[in-house]
Amino acid sequence: MNDSQRKILVTSALPYANGPIHIGHMVEYVQTDIWARFLRSVGHVVYYVCADDTHGTPIMLQARKLGVSPEELIKRTEIEHRDDFRDFNIAFDHYYTTHSSENRYYSEFIYNSLVTNNHIQKRTVRQAYDPEENMFLPDRFIRGTCPRCDVKDQYGDSCESCGATYSPTDLKQPVSAISGATPVLKESDHFFVKLSNFEAMLKEWTGVTGKLQSEVTNKLSEWFTAGLRDWDISRDEPYFGFEIPGETGKYFYVWLDAPIGYMASFKSFCDKSGKDFNEYWGSDSRAELYHFVGKDILYFHTLFWPAMLHSAGFRKPTSVFVHGFLTVDGQKMSKSRGTLVSARTYLDYLDPDYLRYYFATKLNSHVEDLDLNLDDFLQRVNSDLVGKVVNIASRCAGFIAKHFNNQLGAELDDTDLYEEFVRESESIAEYYEAREFSRAMRDIMSFADKANQYLNEQQPWKIAHDEKKRQELHKICTQGINLFRLLIIWLNPVVPGLTSRSESFLRCSISKSGVWQDIRTPLLNHSIGEFFPLLKRIDSTKIESMIEESSNRKEADMSQYLLQDPIGEEISIDEFSKIDLRVAVIMQASLVENADKLLQLTLDVGGETRNVFAGIKSAYSPDELVGRRVVLVANLASRKMRFGISEGMVLAASGIDDDGIFLIEPDTGAEPGMRVR
Ligand code: MSP
Ligand code: ZN
Repeated sequence: MNDSQRKILVTSALPYANGPIHIGHMVEYVQTDIWARFLRSVGHVVYYVCADDTHGTPIMLQARKLGVSPEELIKRTEIEHRDDFRDFNIAFDHYYTTHSSENRYYSEFIYNSLVTNNHIQKRTVRQAYDPEENMFLPDRFIRGTCPRCDVKDQYGDSCESCGATYSPTDLKQPVSAISGATPVLKESDHFFVKLSNFEAMLKEWTGVTGKLQSEVTNKLSEWFTAGLRDWDISRDEPYFGFEIPGETGKYFYVWLDAPIGYMASFKSFCDKSGKDFNEYWGSDSRAELYHFVGKDILYFHTLFWPAMLHSAGFRKPTSVFVHGFLTVDGQKMSKSRGTLVSARTYLDYLDPDYLRYYFATKLNSHVEDLDLNLDDFLQRVNSDLVGKVVNIASRCAGFIAKHFNNQLGAELDDTDLYEEFVRESESIAEYYEAREFSRAMRDIMSFADKANQYLNEQQPWKIAHDEKKRQELHKICTQGINLFRLLIIWLNPVVPGLTSRSESFLRCSISKSGVWQDIRTPLLNHSIGEFFPLLKRIDSTKIESMIEESSNRKEADMSQYLLQDPIGEEISIDEFSKIDLRVAVIMQASLVENADKLLQLTLDVGGETRNVFAGIKSAYSPDELVGRRVVLVANLASRKMRFGISEGMVLAASGIDDDGIFLIEPDTGAEPGMRVR
């Protein structure tokens, strides 16, 4: 590469410290890692830093339920996250935490600059408050009935059933998801960043970078047109985070200190390794800075974050690279389908290179969702990596061992073909640089095909029978091994495990920085190691077991339901017996027009017929329900809905966050109308 050496700092979004890393997150870490590894392999100076995102209400509440301090919880999670990333071969230069002195320092520094530059406004806000827990409630901790469609149990800010968005004060019958108490409105002072102060700067930044994806630029201009809204950066105690200097009982909102965590992690790295922090973050920095993020957190990274950096006199990102979301077999990942696979469960069954390669075949520079199709995954990996790439080495290695004492020959058989590969390196590098990984993979595989075709034509296995053709055999196999080496150099950012095994087979270094420069020089007169299987085929039973394990609620996982949704307040037996539960049989079931979640059920309750609307559409189709026994809350007051009157409720178990719905079914022999107690 004749590009002069660049200095580049890359980041991935900081994962929340209240849960395990799953394969959806891995899309981002793998994408960033491939890019960073590629840039290193062409010889640039690249630092890749990340950290756990440790503050906020959910983490505080989870720690409380586990009976540990938040500090203890985030320490445990950080260890797990680090292990997951290490085993996926994510090559961070530094992995840190937002709960650090460096992060506190820069958060205060940036906040003080916002104050000094008159970008902060103090305002009194009326907000939902839990009178039992003595805390203000974030929107997602308030549940209630949607003011528009009357569906129960919706979040404080939006309805999952009709899509309405509203403020928590509009919810009917609101309850605190923490204590179950009815929230009251309470006033409190909050600090707002006047984002509109930064409009001109942000517009310029958006235009100047010229490197933002077109989807991102479009989104930004929508936001500019709608007008930039002020941003509330404060939260009242109790909160787990950094206290706002000069205030009492006020904390920085987690999203203020989270992106600052990028700087803090880098600062900690500099202190440890003697690097110059200002070279990367100073306002006159000539280094490049890139953030990889998912589409859900675009707003924070393209508006708030540049504004904060600007106010405090730091450089702004060179670009923000946004990716879409992972689906599995065409659907949102879900625990009940077993497709919400944690990084650890994946690693217990499969090699990380498989998923890294598969993601690479699907990733491009656009904000598009990508699908992990499990059949396609197995096919692609087995046919490309094992069937094409590793196959080239295995077709040649035996002859080199048997006839040439593991020594490569003094010349290649087909220099033109080798040169053709060398020339192709240029466009593969361009695809990598442009984050068009799927195109890079397609090109690499078509060259793997070329190498196999070459061997098919030369037929070394036939020539090997002819003692007089030893030299020809030597050249052909030397050619094959050299083409294999080029493929591995190209693939090394994607499959570090296969690369490192290939290095010990080839006895040459490939994962080193600047390896791209070695492409022009073939390995000749060089002794290689003994061949061994460099990558195994995926065994489909491994995938099945992985999915099965992910859907099985293990003991350890089961506790999450109690943790996030603790047992309710005690009631007396008299209170309980007021609830009249009856066995019922579903006579008819049908879809309800314009309702996303509901099915209409006609129930036989032993002579009496009831019409019930049940929010079970996501889990059941009408056909499979007819004839099933269910449990009905028979004396629940009827409720008038948009679609008709619902006369009771059927019981079902349900998890948290799209975790499935499971109807409660009486044992065979229970007759409609029987009382359940
Ligand atoms: N803590 C914030 C980020 C703070 S950055 C200063 C956060 N954490 S997260 O754990 O929810 O997500 C981390 C990253 O993973 C985000 O960029 C998010 O978009 C990405 N993904 C989470 N689920 C994903 C998929 N299913 N698919 C692809 N990326 C996903 O957001
Ligand atoms: Zn609604």
